[in-house]
Amino acid sequence: MSTFSQRRLSQVASALRTATAEASSPALAANAAAAAKPAAQIALVGAGSWATGWHLPHLDANPDCDIAAIVEMGDEHRAAMGEQYGCPTFATFEELIASDVQVDGVLISSPHRTHFDLGMMAIDAGYNVLIEKPMTVSAEEAQTLVDAAKAGGKIFMVSRCTVSTISLCLSMSS
Ligand SMILES: NC(=O)c1ccc[n+]([C@@H]2O[C@H](COP(=O)([O-])OP(=O)(O)OC[C@H]3O[C@@H](n4cnc5c(N)ncnc54)[C@H](O)[C@@H]3O)[C@@H](O)[C@H]2O)c1
Repeated sequence: MSTFSQRRLSQVASALRTATAEASSPALAANAAAAAKPAAQIALVGAGSWATGWHLPHLDANPDCDIAAIVEMGDEHRAAMGEQYGCPTFATFEELIASDVQVDGVLISSPHRTHFDLGMMAIDAGYNVLIEKPMTVSAEEAQTLVDAAKAGGKIFMVSRCTVSTISLCLSMSS
């Protein structure tokens, strides 16, 4: 992976912090242990222009997470992304859910019209969810997703809320 050495350096630094803190203070040791918790396993769905230029490089550079899988419909692009990030890839979200890949959270960055179905599948699968804006293509779909997310009890977030989206969310939650 392109940032393997960066991630490895971060893991070594984290282990050093833990050892140093343990030697000096139990409270510091507890903080350092919390910082050294396992990386979150994040699957990316929809590796288009936005995810390729923004989400995937940021996930890859973040020592607190691993790119657990990439779901992308486009065959050539899927293969290229899998090779670049060294992770399993799937042509459909259903295939990922049916696989034995461990996923803590899913980042949905596919076209707007697909957000509702993929979001509902992610909630049903028990994943934490970050979905790109716009959340859905209708208020009814958005409300259904919010209701399902509340019932599911996992984290559900919409990326880069604009003022209008925040207003919609506030009105939906009242
Ligand atoms: N937060 C921001 O500032 C910001 C910026 C740009 C785009 N976006 C949002 O990100 C989302 C994606 O935008 P984009 O410009 O990357 O679009 P895009 O068309 O370039 O990419 C979408 C990708 O999703 C794939 N895809 C389509 N349906 C799929 C499915 N069912 N399963 C798996 N993959 C599927 C396509 O093959 C494509 O590669 C949109 O909702 C857009 O509004 C947000």
